[in-house]
Amino acid sequence: MFKSRDTSTFIPPHPRSMTIHTESVSTTLESLRSNPEVYQNLETLLTNVNGNVPLHKRFRALFTLKNLCDEKSVDIIAKAFTDDSALLKHELAYVLGQMKNSYANDILRSVLSDKSQDPMVRHEAAEALGAIGDLSSLDILEEYLDDENPVIRETCELAIARINHENHPDKRGKPSSNVTVYTSIDPAPPNTDIQSVSRLQEILLDTRLPLFERYRSMFALRNIGTKEAVLALSEVLLHDPSALFRHEVAYVFGQMQSPDSVPALLSALENKNELYMVRHEAAEALGSIATSECLPILRKFRDDDERVVKESCEVALDMYEYENSNEFQYADGALGYR
Ligand SMILES: [Fe+2]
Ligand SMILES: [Fe+2]
Repeated sequence: MFKSRDTSTFIPPHPRSMTIHTESVSTTLESLRSNPEVYQNLETLLTNVNGNVPLHKRFRALFTLKNLCDEKSVDIIAKAFTDDSALLKHELAYVLGQMKNSYANDILRSVLSDKSQDPMVRHEAAEALGAIGDLSSLDILEEYLDDENPVIRETCELAIARINHENHPDKRGKPSSNVTVYTSIDPAPPNTDIQSVSRLQEILLDTRLPLFERYRSMFALRNIGTKEAVLALSEVLLHDPSALFRHEVAYVFGQMQSPDSVPALLSALENKNELYMVRHEAAEALGSIATSECLPILRKFRDDDERVVKESCEVALDMYEYENSNEFQYADGALGYR
């Protein structure tokens, strides 16, 4: 099991979990930042100028840029929004949000406004603006509150609520309640006022409540992490009317890596009537959990008709193989082809 690895060198197989924290790595990052060739190599890989870079290597280049986390990295990531893979582009937007650098606001605004981009990519741009959390992003998020796509509308609603929450006078300057073993910047802070799983479940499943409150329960349940919490979250993945909420639960399951979530994830991925962004998130979560029952289904859907699902399975399988190989150089993308 992945969890048993030494966390100082452990690179989780879920692509979004690739954040490195040790001191030696920060020294490595400093030396990478001082080398212009590193940025050139990463740009060549990420933007696939030669047309022959496999998707998983482009993902690794992206996560190296995330770790470098400077304006030069933002500029390189911005160039890849002309690509034709919605999977890659939604990850670009996600990474820009997680870098939490206001320098990325301009490119994220233009992606959200660009209706020729896949809704999954626009959704992730709106969410990233919320993650960065600047009050100056409220105008554009309000503009798309009545987008024709419910996924965009709901994402903007959440991002606005998050920005207002983070900038509330009671909150400014205080440490974020969003600090957990999970390193992601989430679209809503966990509800830390309620400890009862059954009460959190009631809020989670109450479709009359604002999505932001329901998300806060979801992240609280993630942090509690018991089987009971997983089963409550499975109810959302299997039955909630909001595709956005279902996809976020699948993402959270990828973080939790609980085998108890596998039945709901398998059923989401196998359901061809489910929205592709939910199936994609289920595939990545299964790649992250990677018990013996997960891998055959990822291999099966590696040929799915839906490109985003097919590519998610490819990347998930790569992450699994990577995790089980001896390749532990997180920044290999920086050093050219391997
Ligand atoms: Fe998302
Ligand atoms: Fe995703």
